[in-house]
Amino acid sequence: MSTHPAVVAVKPRAPLEIRNVPTVKPGKGEIRVKNEWTASTPLDLHQADGGLLIAEWPHLLGDGVVGPVVEVGEGVDNLTVGDQVFGFTWRTAKEKGHQKYVTSDAFLFGKLPPGIEPQAAVTLPNNAVTAWHTINVELGIDLPWPKPANFSPKEAESPFLVWGGSSSVGQFSIQLLKYYGFRNILTTASKRHTDYLKELGAAQVFDYNDPGVIETIVHARGDKAIPYIIDSIGSLDGSIRPLSKIATKGSKVAVMLPVVVRDATASLEPVYAMDVTENVHWAEGVDVTGVRTHFYLKKLQPEVIPTLLAEGSLKPNRQKIIEGPTLLARAQASMDALRNKEASGERLVWRVSDD
Ligand SMILES: NC(=O)c1ccc[n+]([C@@H]2O[C@H](COP(=O)([O-])OP(=O)(O)OC[C@H]3O[C@@H](n4cnc5c(N)ncnc54)[C@H](OP(=O)(O)O)[C@@H]3O)[C@@H](O)[C@H]2O)c1
Repeated sequence: MSTHPAVVAVKPRAPLEIRNVPTVKPGKGEIRVKNEWTASTPLDLHQADGGLLIAEWPHLLGDGVVGPVVEVGEGVDNLTVGDQVFGFTWRTAKEKGHQKYVTSDAFLFGKLPPGIEPQAAVTLPNNAVTAWHTINVELGIDLPWPKPANFSPKEAESPFLVWGGSSSVGQFSIQLLKYYGFRNILTTASKRHTDYLKELGAAQVFDYNDPGVIETIVHARGDKAIPYIIDSIGSLDGSIRPLSKIATKGSKVAVMLPVVVRDATASLEPVYAMDVTENVHWAEGVDVTGVRTHFYLKKLQPEVIPTLLAEGSLKPNRQKIIEGPTLLARAQASMDALRNKEASGERLVWRVSDD
């Protein structure tokens, strides 16, 4: 049986390791991709440091893939060997992102648009899908595809608050909302990201490090509820508690899970929760929900995301390329950078295949 290297977490907070895992032949409807670049996302850290949603160790990490199709299973008619594709794959070991070969359903991939660098494209899949899912499914906003000419949502002028606009989820949420015609997008971010987030589509950017930020946003909203709020951060103290003071009767709030009760640091274990109503008081009439994109399987990736990327309606996240002599060195350096919060408005991406 052929094997290839994969990055695994062997137990909570232990250094990452490389294991040789089976190279799986694609079945019906599946393709095999030679994975050239991947990204590290907070879920990798939540899993490696906190064991989040891990049933069995060692655990293969990652969910972002980009590279050429090297094998095609029966019944796949939209992709062929040699096509450059990118995708968000996460359900089983054979499709995890931090390994050299990935075998998964063809509908979880889209073609890389011409002129887009693979390391830029790999910043999209996970969080562009998450942003779409959050707006469309969790908040119940219609996102027709293809978008009809002159489409305008009925809430186009209503305030829409995206807490944490510089995060990857935040950047894609702002861009999708702009694409669909929302014009009053409010967001929070560190000051250094203000101009960029306005370029992406935010109307106002509030500095979340400002101790008066809650009062400033409450003042800006006046007596009216902000109808839609996305919490792109999911931090108990950093976003959920502040939002519980901003949301009022009539607000719908979608919070990224897990709730980060305490961040991982080099010396402290992280603490997570899955209930967005625990330890916080939401005003009566606020509709709050926790987002789990992993329950969402639709054909967003073959068509919607490549199209929006190709036409420039979705810009990739800026990238911080993690270098290193080996796959393991790059994976570990990226994990350490996540833990040390070195990604500010950018995605940590690294090469999987050396050849
Ligand atoms: N449940 C799901 O389906 C799902 C899917 C995707 C993501 N998530 C979760 O969503 C969270 C965000 O993921 P991501 O990949 O978008 O994160 P990310 O890009 O790594 O987030 C880093 C950014 O967050 C900003 N930030 C940190 N704390 C903040 C705060 N209190 N208020 C406002 N901004 C803050 C930082 O801004 P500065 O550097 O300027 O401070 C930085 O730019 C993670 O916990 C992830 O696991 C959940």
